Amino acid sequence: MDDLTDLIKQLTLEEKVSLLGGQDFWSLPAIPRIGLRSLIMSDGPIGVRGTGWAPEDPSIALPSPTALAATWDPALARTAGRLLGQESRRKGVHVLLGPTVNLQRTPLGGRHFECYSEDPLLSGEIGAGFVEGVQEHGVGTTVKHLVGNDFETDRMTVDVRIGERALREVYLAPFERVVAAGGWGLMSAYNGVNGLPMASNGPLQSDVLKDEWGFDGVVVSDWRAARETVGAALGGLDIAMPAMENPWGPKLVAAVRSGEVAEELIDDKVRRVLRLAARVGVLDGVPPAVRTPPADLDGDAVAHEVAARSFVLARNEHFALPLEPAGLTRVAVIGALATDARVLGGGSAQVTPPHVISPLEGLTRALPGIDVAHAVGADPRPFLPALPQETSVTLLGADHAFTVPVAAVRWIGDLPGGIAPEAVTGLELRTTFTPGEDGEHVFAVSGFGTFELIVGGETIYSGTLHPPGTGRADLLLSPKEQRAGVTLAAGVPVEVTLRQSIQPGMAHTVSATLGHQAPGVSAEGLLAEAVELARESDVAIVVVGTTEQVESEGFDRASLELPGDQDELVVRVAAANPRTIVVVNAGSPVLLPWVEDVAAVLLTWFPGQEAGAALADVLLGVAEPGGRLPTTWPRREQDCPVLQVTPRDGVVEYDEGVFIGYRAWDRAGTPPLYAFGHGLGYTTWRYETLEVSPAEAVVSLTNTGARVGREVVQMYAGPAGVTPEGIGATGVSPERPARWLAGFAPVEAHPGETVTVRIPLPERTWQVWDGGWRTIPGAYAVTAAHALDDPRLTASLEL
Ligand code: BGC
Repeated sequence: MDDLTDLIKQLTLEEKVSLLGGQDFWSLPAIPRIGLRSLIMSDGPIGVRGTGWAPEDPSIALPSPTALAATWDPALARTAGRLLGQESRRKGVHVLLGPTVNLQRTPLGGRHFECYSEDPLLSGEIGAGFVEGVQEHGVGTTVKHLVGNDFETDRMTVDVRIGERALREVYLAPFERVVAAGGWGLMSAYNGVNGLPMASNGPLQSDVLKDEWGFDGVVVSDWRAARETVGAALGGLDIAMPAMENPWGPKLVAAVRSGEVAEELIDDKVRRVLRLAARVGVLDGVPPAVRTPPADLDGDAVAHEVAARSFVLARNEHFALPLEPAGLTRVAVIGALATDARVLGGGSAQVTPPHVISPLEGLTRALPGIDVAHAVGADPRPFLPALPQETSVTLLGADHAFTVPVAAVRWIGDLPGGIAPEAVTGLELRTTFTPGEDGEHVFAVSGFGTFELIVGGETIYSGTLHPPGTGRADLLLSPKEQRAGVTLAAGVPVEVTLRQSIQPGMAHTVSATLGHQAPGVSAEGLLAEAVELARESDVAIVVVGTTEQVESEGFDRASLELPGDQDELVVRVAAANPRTIVVVNAGSPVLLPWVEDVAAVLLTWFPGQEAGAALADVLLGVAEPGGRLPTTWPRREQDCPVLQVTPRDGVVEYDEGVFIGYRAWDRAGTPPLYAFGHGLGYTTWRYETLEVSPAEAVVSLTNTGARVGREVVQMYAGPAGVTPEGIGATGVSPERPARWLAGFAPVEAHPGETVTVRIPLPERTWQVWDGGWRTIPGAYAVTAAHALDDPRLTASLEL
C-alpha cells in the first residue's frame, strides 16, 4: 500500500469531501490528524497576488502574458516562472493560478492580453517553460481555462461548439503540451464545450485529460464555475472553488451515500489533492517535489528584461530608432499614459506592484542633462486617477490603520493586518491635500459600495455606486465612478476623507479609489499644448493605449480603436514633428490609422512595473527590441477573420475550425498590417543555409549589421506548392492551412558572426487529427523565416 492510500483510508467521507472544496476564497482545509496543512492558491499569471490584495503586501508585476510570448523564448518564460515560484514561496502560496493558454481567436476577446498567442505551438512552448519554472520552486500551477474560454461575453453560460479536429489540433494542443511538461494542476473553464459545462465535462476532463494524456494532477474549477453536484463529480473535476456557492460539501456526501457517486471516485480526487499537497510540501511524511529551491532572482531585473525583450518594433523608417542622445536637446513625451502607464491588464490577473516606472520617469532618468518635457495631449482614462499622494487607511471597527502611496485600496480575500471581516464596519481613506492651483478641483469616488466624500469639512458626495444585490464579479469587473467639484485656493491645505460603510462580514471584497483632477484645460487645449511641445522638440514620443474600461477580464472589446482623442493626437503631433515615435501601450491589437505618417511604432503590451525603464533602454538602443508578434495585427477591424464574441441562443460556433489567426488570414488572402512573427531589430541578418529532416531543421545565419543582435528564427511548414495566394486553387489538402508554425528558436550573434541553430520539429507538424493522429504523407515546403511574411530559405521534404 502506498503512503497516500494509507492516508485516504484514515479519512471519513466527510473529511475526504472537505478536501475537494475551498474553505474560503483561496485555500483548502487542513487535516492535522494526517499531517496535512492548508493548501493555498493565488492568481496568477503576471505576479502572485497572495491571499489578499493587500496594498501593504506588494507583488512583482511582470509584463502581460502576450508580452512574454512575444519574446518567443521558452527559456525566458522559464525564468519568469521561476521568479513567480519564488514570489509564491515568499507569500506562502502553494499553487499559482496560471498560465492562461486559451488562444487569441479574435482580438475582441477581453482577456486577449492574458493569453499567449494565436498559435498553439507558440502558446504551448511558452506555457510549458513558464510552468517548469514555477514548479522548480515546488510550487504548483493550474494551466487554464480548459477549454474554449477565448472570449468573455456570457462566459458563465455560453456553450462553445468546437469540432473535434479544431479541438485537438488547435485549442487543446497547448494544454496537452503543458501536461506533457509535467504540470501539476489545471483549471477548467466557466463555459461549456459541445453541450456540457466544462466543470462537468467528462469527455474532455476524464477521458482526454486524465485517461488519454495520463494527467496525474488536480483539476480545479474556475471560481464559481462548478454548479452541479453529481455532474461535476462524475465529470472529472477534483476541486470546486471557492467556498462560496460551492455545490459539493454536504451535497456531495449525500450523493455518495445515495450511490449516485462512487466513493472510489472521491478517493481518486482525494489522492490527487494529497499528491499535490505532497508535491508542494504541505503533507508531512511524504517528501516534497523540491527540497532545495533554486537561488533567488532579482524580481525587478527579470521584469525589466522580459519587458525589453517583448517590445515589438513594428515600424522604423529611416532608422528613426534607436535615438542617439548626443543629438538631443529637447525630448517631448506625450500622452496621459506617459505618466500613468497601463502596466497590467484588468481582472483577476491584477496585482499591486511595489513601484511602477512610467515612460516619462524612465526617459527622464535615462537622459540626464536633456530637457525631457511632458504634455498630456489626450486623456483616454474614463475614471480620474487616484490622488497621487500618501494616504492613511483605517479599517473602522477593527482598530487597524496603515498607509498607501496613492489614494486607492483594493483586496479580495484576506484583509490587511489579518483582520477578521466580521470586525470591520467601514473604511476610511484620509489625506491632506494642498492644491497647486486656484479653481475647481474635481474629486471622484470609484470602486464599489456606499461612500461619503468629504473635502475641507464639506460632504461633496454621498451615495451607493452599484445597486444593492449586484454580483461580486460585476462589482469587481465593472467599477463605477461619481465626481464632484469643489473650488479651492492654491497653497491652502484641505483635509480629504473618503468613508465607506461596509455590511457586516462583507469586508473581504473591497475596492475604493479617491480620484482627483486639477483645474484643467479643454480637450482642444490639451491637443494644442502637445502639438506646441512636439514642434519645439527634437523628437516626439507619443504613448497611446487602452484603458481598463476597454480591455479587461469580464467583458469583450466593442472596437479595436484607441479610446478618446488619441488618434487625433498622433495625427497632429506627427504633422508638427516628422520624428514622431509612437509607443503603443495596449495588451492586444489596436488600429493604427496614422501608421504611415509616423517615423516609428513600438508595441509595448502591458509592460509590467519596469515599463519606463525598459522603454528607455529600447528607445536609446541600450537593449534591442527583441519581440516578434505572437498574433496578427489587423489594418482594419473588418479584416479580422473572427469577430464573433456574442453568443446566439447561448451558443458560439467555432465554424472556422482550425483556421484561426494567420491560418485564416492566409486563407482569406487579405494582407494584415503586421503579420504573425513580425518585428524589426537594430541589426540585419542573412540566412545562409537550411537543412531539414522530419525531426529537425538546422539553420545558419549571419548578423550582417553593426551591432550585437537577436533574431527569432521561425520555421513554417506546409504542403508544397501551396502559396498563400493559391490556397484552395491547388486542390492540395484544401482543409489544411497553407502553412503553420513548426518550430522556432531565438539566437544571438555579434556583428559578422555566423551562428547555427538546431530547431526540433515535433511529430505533430506532419499530422492531422482524424479520430486519432494521422501523419499525412507527401511533399512539404519547410521555410526558415524572419516573420510569416518574410521567408528567407525554403527546403522541400518528402514524407
Ligand atoms: C478567473 C480565473 C481566476 C479566478 C480566481 C476567475 O474569475 O477566470 O482566471 O484564476 O477567477 O481569481
